[in-house]
Amino acid sequence: MSSKPGQARWWHGAVLYQLYVRSWRDTNGDGYGDLGGVIEGLDYLSWLGVDGIWLSPTMPSPDADWGYDVSDYLGVHPELGTLADMDRLIEQAGKRGLRVLLDLVPNHTSSAHSWFVDAASSRDADHRDYYVWADAAPDGGPPNNWLNSTGASAWTWHEPTGQYYLHNFLPAQPDLNWWEPAVHQAFTETLRFWLDRGVAGFRIDVAHGLYKDAKLRDNPPAPTEGPLLGRFGQLAIYNMNRPEVHEVYRDWRRIADSYDDPKLLLGETWVDLDRLGSFYGHGDELQLGFNFPFVFAGLTAPALSGVVGDTLAKLPAGSCPVWTLSNHDVGRFPSRWCDGDPARIRLALLVLATLPGTTVLYYGDEIGMLDVRVPLELQRDEMSRGGEVGWRGNRDRARTPMQWDATATAGFTSDGVTPWLPVGDNADISVAAQRDDPASMLSFCRELIRLRKAGSGGQIASYEVLPAPPGAWAYRTGALTVLGNFTAGPVHCDLPGGPVRLATVLSTVAPAPSAPAPSAPAPSAPAPSATASSQTAGPDGITLAPWQGVILGSP
Ligand code: GLC
Ligand code: CA
Repeated sequence: MSSKPGQARWWHGAVLYQLYVRSWRDTNGDGYGDLGGVIEGLDYLSWLGVDGIWLSPTMPSPDADWGYDVSDYLGVHPELGTLADMDRLIEQAGKRGLRVLLDLVPNHTSSAHSWFVDAASSRDADHRDYYVWADAAPDGGPPNNWLNSTGASAWTWHEPTGQYYLHNFLPAQPDLNWWEPAVHQAFTETLRFWLDRGVAGFRIDVAHGLYKDAKLRDNPPAPTEGPLLGRFGQLAIYNMNRPEVHEVYRDWRRIADSYDDPKLLLGETWVDLDRLGSFYGHGDELQLGFNFPFVFAGLTAPALSGVVGDTLAKLPAGSCPVWTLSNHDVGRFPSRWCDGDPARIRLALLVLATLPGTTVLYYGDEIGMLDVRVPLELQRDEMSRGGEVGWRGNRDRARTPMQWDATATAGFTSDGVTPWLPVGDNADISVAAQRDDPASMLSFCRELIRLRKAGSGGQIASYEVLPAPPGAWAYRTGALTVLGNFTAGPVHCDLPGGPVRLATVLSTVAPAPSAPAPSAPAPSAPAPSATASSQTAGPDGITLAPWQGVILGSP
């Protein structure tokens, strides 16, 4: 079917917003965000200028992993609302030009799903082969060395039927067996069920998973430890990352493309850049795959320009890259990358919002929300309980209530209600404190989104690296020239480029290198965004303040 002009690939140049439903807004006073709260927040999102929202899991779940353990793919979690609420949400979002993506979890179900309940009832149960069962090793131990997301064995012994079952995550999340055709059928129906209701597509959980090695071979040791392939000393090449998964995405893409307004498949592709491109296929698999090497790059010029250059070189021609810095697993970039320094947060936002392709913000990124240290007794995430730092840190730190205002409940829930997770520091970091302040992080972020859309909405902007001194990174993307200083001292760029269109912070550094040096160092504390800056990249170039980023030219 043909699509309406300009709508076919609406995610090109777009900004998506990951909305962690339980933490966004609570409308019935139970301390959990809900779909009613999402609806209430739609005007804010359309004011901010985003194009679509990805809702964290909304399907019924016992919440061993907060919705990533699904017990019914065709329903809505009663704590979040009803199917009618979801229909209303899609309709209300649509009225504002916002698309809604759901989170789809095809790698595993909840152990409370009726399929698993049946599968566990006997070895000849109808759904036995929906899951991965295996006999014990000769010594009675697990069938192989595979480890789950906590570093423990990925196998749990099931005494009643005398076999182990596989779970790459918690024991309450048994892995599906994608060698079983009925599993494909069940997910095809799930896709159509939601797409027919007006959902714009899916974020696909553990998109590099699904298939497991048919021979259940041991994973080899990993040469290095890191968040991508080499976790817990193993290369996860047999319990996930199997080539057969691509056939699934070719099937799903055919479904997505069969709609008038093509639907979007956005994979949680937790892989290196060499593998990322394979998920785009030949333009016939996922339209977007999350870029985790970028998430973990860090706020330095060589790391960022390196990973961006590599990404663009390695993705198949015509693919749309997708950039994000925070999510509900890895934590918030204002803490991880920026130590809470507003100047650095703005610089990272500037990069995020100007790269070609699709940008995904995490709720609260736009006001500079920070990770929250959640005391052990208040932690709600079983998988990461007690985790301290890095990619293995406690995940609750980035799941705390959206900071709407400076009250005790941050405007997230009614007065006197205890939110499911504690509220972070919301004295200045809140929508209410920032919305009407033209110098705020929120106003800066909104202006970035506006510039992005004016400059490259509806297309994947071109990208060209420009010469820059050490510590700086300069690029031209579409009609915008972006310069960033990723150091704590001033940096001079010999780049004539015209007036500064937007700056992360006002420069107090003298405009030209020949001018006398400023006596006081430039602040890296909250500073106004400089839409009205008089800074100019003249014939001698421009001197950037510490951690300052600027956009030159007009889109
Ligand atoms: C993905 C989700 C994460 C979840 C895991 C298991 O990585 O983002 O939150 O725990 O999959 O579903
Ligand atoms: Ca609620």
